[in-house]
Amino acid sequence: MILDHDALVVGAGGAGLWAALELAKAGVNSAVLTKLYPTRSHTGAAQGGVCAALGNQEEDHWEWHMFDTIKGGDYLVDQDAAEVLAREAIETVIELEHMGLPFNRTPDGRIDQRRFGGHTRNYGEGPVKRACFAADRTGHMILQTLYQQCLKHGVKFYDEYHVVDLVTEGGDLGAGGRAAGVVAYRIADGELVTLRSKAVLLATGGFGRMFRVTSNAYSLTGDGVALAYRHGVPMEDMEFYQFHPTGIVGIGILLSEAARGEGGYLLDNDGFRFMERYAPKLMELAPRDMVSRAIYQEIRAGRGINGKDYVYLDVRHLGRKVIEEKLPDITDFARVYQGVEPLTEPVPIQPTAHYAMGGIGTNVFAQVVRDANNTVVPGLYAAGETACVSVHGANRLGTNSLVDLLVFGRRAGRQMARDIMGVGTPQIADDAAEAVRGEIEAIRGRAKGERKEALRKELADVMMDDAGVYRTAEGLERARDKVQELRGRYANVSVDDKGTTFNTDLLEARELGYLLDCAETMVAACINRKESRGAHSREDFPERDDVNFLSHSLATKGADGAINLAYKPVTITKFQPKPRVY
Ligand code: FUM
Repeated sequence: MILDHDALVVGAGGAGLWAALELAKAGVNSAVLTKLYPTRSHTGAAQGGVCAALGNQEEDHWEWHMFDTIKGGDYLVDQDAAEVLAREAIETVIELEHMGLPFNRTPDGRIDQRRFGGHTRNYGEGPVKRACFAADRTGHMILQTLYQQCLKHGVKFYDEYHVVDLVTEGGDLGAGGRAAGVVAYRIADGELVTLRSKAVLLATGGFGRMFRVTSNAYSLTGDGVALAYRHGVPMEDMEFYQFHPTGIVGIGILLSEAARGEGGYLLDNDGFRFMERYAPKLMELAPRDMVSRAIYQEIRAGRGINGKDYVYLDVRHLGRKVIEEKLPDITDFARVYQGVEPLTEPVPIQPTAHYAMGGIGTNVFAQVVRDANNTVVPGLYAAGETACVSVHGANRLGTNSLVDLLVFGRRAGRQMARDIMGVGTPQIADDAAEAVRGEIEAIRGRAKGERKEALRKELADVMMDDAGVYRTAEGLERARDKVQELRGRYANVSVDDKGTTFNTDLLEARELGYLLDCAETMVAACINRKESRGAHSREDFPERDDVNFLSHSLATKGADGAINLAYKPVTITKFQPKPRVY
């Protein structure tokens, strides 16, 4: 079966929904494919805010936001992209407000704003209130608001269609071909459906499930990134993966940075606010890479709580009113998952794998690029966590994720609507789904092989222990060898459910393959980057090395399956790299 649309959006998080909205408003025959029901997308788990230099609470300017983003990203940020982000943050947040998003309000009725890590006034003088928020469920509100707008504008949704391949025309995507559609597995009945289109946006989120402790939902398995990679598109800056400092111990569920933005403390076993040792000016509001490393250092020094592998987040002094009005969800999470009452007790926390700074390289128009010269792949777009624009460089600032997906989701939709004008219907093979059908049926048909649960656990353990917050050559080589071993065993993976109706067993096996692609490229890029920058912290190369590594990595799949690494320069327009002191 072949279905025709002029544009397809894969993924129904904030980036995908805003792109779909723009396409619908432009009258483009378009559709969204999502493996979940749209409002279950992971944007809904983003908590503390979306930043924009509105200046509603304190003086602020988009130039300060741009600077903080670049410094926060340890100068690996493309500065033209950071300028777009900081400027357009303001109009996108106002547009969301006009769509009806229920932001918290200042006493005079404007959007309320709070502090977040690394966001400062006047180029680093001290914290500034830049994060616009709806209690601690900002992402949830964004998702609901955009979904309502999509319904209002008649966006077509294919819910519970799991995209399993890209369709191309004129060769593979790394070799001059264009994106011409997708193949999707219809979860309800196991049908493979080919959808043809002139433009495809990949907005499938990140790949945090490769780690043992993560804030990411089970669905975040790097689908879009891996599919593009398999078709010859490089993965950019895969070595930079963010650990959020405050996850629930052991299970990783996020406790928003908003707790610290509202004035919460991080305490060691002696009750000392240990961030004074690492970032005396910004304290708990230093960027996340620094705070997560500080927590690891405290634990290593034996100052974890009772000598264990966690520290405390303390919000008791904020009082009931602030907690109930501004932090209701996360304080409930502490009650439900930890049995801790944040009004009267400090909450045990530890860093949790949270966000991929790397992904599919794009330009500022969300067009995917395929080499160090930024050559555009016709018909292919990426936005949100799937993409690497790069506005986050080596470390993303809190609340810059939501604004990234809004700004570049909106840009993606507008650009796709422009680009498809005058483009003819792609010529695709009648059997475009055959290759992936063979891969899927091989897994389903295998009588008894490797169990995906075991492979996933082994992957999550080695990535957490050897490619997490701190890295060494020895650990990374161990991770590389383990991922290679898992890839070999994955070729023999089997599933218990052999049926066609809602076979999530089968799809989870498929998702494991995507995670392996992402892990393999991440580890290769980590090994090659012999410096410490942002979230990539090499204990054997502790200094930043601008002479050799002020560049983005590009990992491409070689013909023999090997990973080829290349580098491209960072775009610097205004701010020369400086030591990163907070
Ligand atoms: O801490 C948080 O609320 C997370 C926000 C983000 O990742 O941007």
